[in-house]
Amino acid sequence: MKRWNEMLEINLPPTFFVGVNALENFESVFQHIGLEKGKCKLLVITDSGIVRVGLSKNLENVLRDAGISYEIFSDVTPNPTNDDVEKCLEVYKKHSCNLIVALGGGSVMDVAKAVALRLTNEGPITRYEFPNNPQRATTPIITIPTTAGTGSEATPFCVIIDKTIPKKVVIYSPSIISRIVILDPSLTLSLPKKLTAETGIDALTHAVESYVSPYANPFSDELALKAIEMIAKNIRIAYKDGKNIDAREKMLVASTLAGISFSHAGLGVIHALSHAVSAKFGVSHGLANALLLPVGMEFNLPAATEKFANIAEKFGITAGSKDIVENARKSIDAVKQLLKELDIPNGLSDLGITKDDIDELSKLAFDDAKVCSNPRKIEELSTVKELYEKVMHLY
Ligand SMILES: [Fe+2]
Repeated sequence: MKRWNEMLEINLPPTFFVGVNALENFESVFQHIGLEKGKCKLLVITDSGIVRVGLSKNLENVLRDAGISYEIFSDVTPNPTNDDVEKCLEVYKKHSCNLIVALGGGSVMDVAKAVALRLTNEGPITRYEFPNNPQRATTPIITIPTTAGTGSEATPFCVIIDKTIPKKVVIYSPSIISRIVILDPSLTLSLPKKLTAETGIDALTHAVESYVSPYANPFSDELALKAIEMIAKNIRIAYKDGKNIDAREKMLVASTLAGISFSHAGLGVIHALSHAVSAKFGVSHGLANALLLPVGMEFNLPAATEKFANIAEKFGITAGSKDIVENARKSIDAVKQLLKELDIPNGLSDLGITKDDIDELSKLAFDDAKVCSNPRKIEELSTVKELYEKVMHLY
């Protein structure tokens, strides 16, 4: 990724279908990807939770009505590993599929992208950890997010756990950006409160980290700020009243905007440290980010003070003071207040993680932290340890 004073390469999904019941428009996918539907065999990649709440049935009904041939792989696990990718790849090959449809949250979309890459690259997929980029994927991917958080539908990244370390490995290829994205808020109506909160905070973290990134640029800044504003206005509504379709739609769009933003500006220390927490303890990605968000913001505040003051404004807090640091700090207060209202646990200690775990977590996170696009550079392992210590108890 280049710093903003050089040419910026912008990669976006070419087509979005956005709106309530947009899924019913699935047949038009084929007009956009230039394939005859009669010659296509879709692999629908999803997980057991999506099957349980009936969302995969919705898609199956649409496909059946349109006479589109498909197979289903519903064994994606949270925080997916190489094994998930290989199992799914086997199904794709066994049924001679030629198109991938990801119906689900971040884990499902990550597996879909990894499978597309494995078709043209030797396994395991985790050998292609960024910046060791794989050859381009050639299979089109259609993504249908069922959570508003990951933004993966609009990014060229996938994250797969290498269990042998264990480590979350980030893989990058512009060829795995979705060919079509279907943003249908009706698919998020059944999302439980806990997931609504955690995935929504993941989207907020994407927007905040990309906004203060040293690689931020006018393109990513505007998207990030809009995403922060939309999330600040709608996440509480979606959390308290999950059937509010307007709030659900705004959260879904904000999540995608944040995904596009961080694709062009990068993420920072919060994601670097949260990856280790998820890899080691199986904590959901959104929850790990939520716990790290206020601590990461505080750490970065000296390096992007004005931007944190702008974030506070997007939370509806007027500047109030001529002291920019004071205004910037209000963004951290706003985030802490939001986390409380969303019933996010009070730090890693609430999850049973103890101070004795910090050494191992820090070692896992340090390499990630060194290379991430954080506004404050992290050169010492001790800095990572101090951050984890602060995340033990938040309030
Ligand atoms: Fe994330």
